[in-house]
Amino acid sequence: MKLRFSILFCAMILSFTVYGQHEDFHPGETWKDDQGVHINAHGGGFLIHDDTYYWFGEIKTKGSEGNKAQVGVSVYSSEDLYNWENKGVALAVHEDTTSLLVKGCVIERPKVIFNEKTGKFVMWFHHELKGQGYKAAMTGLAVSNNVAGPYTYVKSVNPNPGIWPSNFPDSLKTRDADPDDFEWRSDEWFEEVEKGLFLRRDFEKGQMARDMTLFVDDDGKAYHIHSSEGNQTLHVAELTDDYLDFTGNYTRVLPGQQNEAPAVFKKDGKYFMISSGLTGWDPNPGRSAVADHPMGPWEPLGNPVVGTEEQMRTTFKSQSTYVLPVKDRENAFIYIGDRWTPKNPIDGKYVWLPIEFEGERPIIRWYDSWDLTFFDN
Ligand code: DGJ
Repeated sequence: MKLRFSILFCAMILSFTVYGQHEDFHPGETWKDDQGVHINAHGGGFLIHDDTYYWFGEIKTKGSEGNKAQVGVSVYSSEDLYNWENKGVALAVHEDTTSLLVKGCVIERPKVIFNEKTGKFVMWFHHELKGQGYKAAMTGLAVSNNVAGPYTYVKSVNPNPGIWPSNFPDSLKTRDADPDDFEWRSDEWFEEVEKGLFLRRDFEKGQMARDMTLFVDDDGKAYHIHSSEGNQTLHVAELTDDYLDFTGNYTRVLPGQQNEAPAVFKKDGKYFMISSGLTGWDPNPGRSAVADHPMGPWEPLGNPVVGTEEQMRTTFKSQSTYVLPVKDRENAFIYIGDRWTPKNPIDGKYVWLPIEFEGERPIIRWYDSWDLTFFDN
């Protein structure tokens, strides 16, 4: 009798610690999955499929090499956004040293979208080649028939070779300026960068694509939004109907303004972007912008953070990665950011906060803890 009771008691404790233990969000704190392990899905991207949330992210490991892809991309699923089940590795790095996706390369900010026409799940991610630092600045593609994978690696590219952005004036296409002629980060350098110094340099081979996100509009058109031109200028590039390629239609957005970490959402027919400045793994003041079309023009709306000077300076010690629309609720959006810990990347935390609106401007305030009833008001 005593033994039976202890077994029952242990089972109850176990199921309590394994399942359903979260009822709210605690931004910046350790967030345990169904196995009791801190969620390992950094630079995350989200997909709602069959009424379930999926969270894809970079699998970080311990120590100084932990920002390199030693394992690949993880995927977690959730019904309620608080409790996440580890579904394993969605995209695995390759052991084959001839593959561009070889273990030890860099995979960042994976995003997955579903193509209604082909029935395929399409993952794009920032890809840097092994041993080359951040030089390659490519975007990688992987595809699966199942939401949780396994995803098959297809290719990595520098987008839109030999094609000018649709909003780049003819007068600048032949401008006589070479990156070697300017002192790095001098006033002249910034002026020329804005006028397409790197865009022209990369015209033949294809453009740089680092921090990235994907956005699917209500008409099914998908856009690949990435930091390009030495991280100085964003590019918004249209994807083909199957989402597996670039159409060649793209725009430069906020030239020379150094936007990283773009996250795009749509509210009441307008497109909003949350992004960051350019300071490596260190946090910086967040940014926001609005547009009538994903390809722009985008109008800056300033720092979305409303809070203390420190919170505004560091975006609550986070860098944006995604804005998640909450299912079954109108105009409910969650800011999702990474609190990077580059000395031990696996320790990185997640900052989830509700997006509020001040007139037409998205703002983000700090809450030590909160839940989805926030959106009931
Ligand atoms: C900032 C980016 O947003 C991250 O994804 C990562 O690329 C770091 N820079 C690397 O320094």
